[in-house]
Amino acid sequence: MSVTTVLDVQRYKAEGRRFAMLTAYDATTAALLDEAGIPILLVGDSLGMVVLGYSTTVPVTLDDMVHHAAAVARGSRTALLVGDLPFGAYQESPEQALASAARLLKEGGMHAVKLEGGAHMAGTVRRLVESGIPVMAHIGLTPQSVNTMGGFKVQGRTPQAAGDLFDSARLLEAAGAFAIVLEGIPDDLAARITRALAIPTIGIGAGSGCDGQVLVVNDLLGLSTGGRQPRFVKRYAELGEQVMAAARAFAAEVESGAFPDAQHSYGASKPPEELRYGG
Ligand code: KIV
Repeated sequence: MSVTTVLDVQRYKAEGRRFAMLTAYDATTAALLDEAGIPILLVGDSLGMVVLGYSTTVPVTLDDMVHHAAAVARGSRTALLVGDLPFGAYQESPEQALASAARLLKEGGMHAVKLEGGAHMAGTVRRLVESGIPVMAHIGLTPQSVNTMGGFKVQGRTPQAAGDLFDSARLLEAAGAFAIVLEGIPDDLAARITRALAIPTIGIGAGSGCDGQVLVVNDLLGLSTGGRQPRFVKRYAELGEQVMAAARAFAAEVESGAFPDAQHSYGASKPPEELRYGG
């Protein structure tokens, strides 16, 4: 099976084919999602919130991203791998963005990068693309700007704001972005942007009119410890419940002495076998 490329993703749009993108932060999850046929894996800076325990994505560093990107690249065989440029690693200048993006490709094994921001990021997108780095743009609710947005709020609700987002999408496309994430915007605006662009839009909290959809994998799997989830999240499993049930069952069997039993122990008469974790 061949690796999905940015050209494949653009072909999906031309063919009117909808597609899925999921986040991944580690090798095992990447391998499972790859096996499931997910064409694009995003090493999102959401890892700051769902893996590293921060309350926003702002503290995530480029080193964090490179570390997790490399793990995902080791686990994935066929997906197009996109790595997020974290806050502070690209806003300073196109040169800074190029140096950061190069690390995500060279050390992190990514095929493309994603960056947040509208019209003001067009020059940076152009510089990266001209340097051979495919860029996925991201507009609307851009979590790295949580402090200027005053929270995680739906964007583009006024005619002026909707117009700005529409113009940004056109400019980012003209700058060479191969796809664009539309996050937290009204569905009619997302559909209008999708119709206007030749590159695919990938929605999250942006309705059904986008070409693709993305979810944070922990949300999809129900792998969370509670709290209110946004309306756009659909949980396709409840792994959080299963994790707790399994942990409780293990602890109870350890306490009662039921684990380990003979089946899970090494008797002198049993043939030698290789020991490894996670097999
Ligand atoms: O960081 C992330 O996971 C993202 C997606 C939610 C689009 O940017």
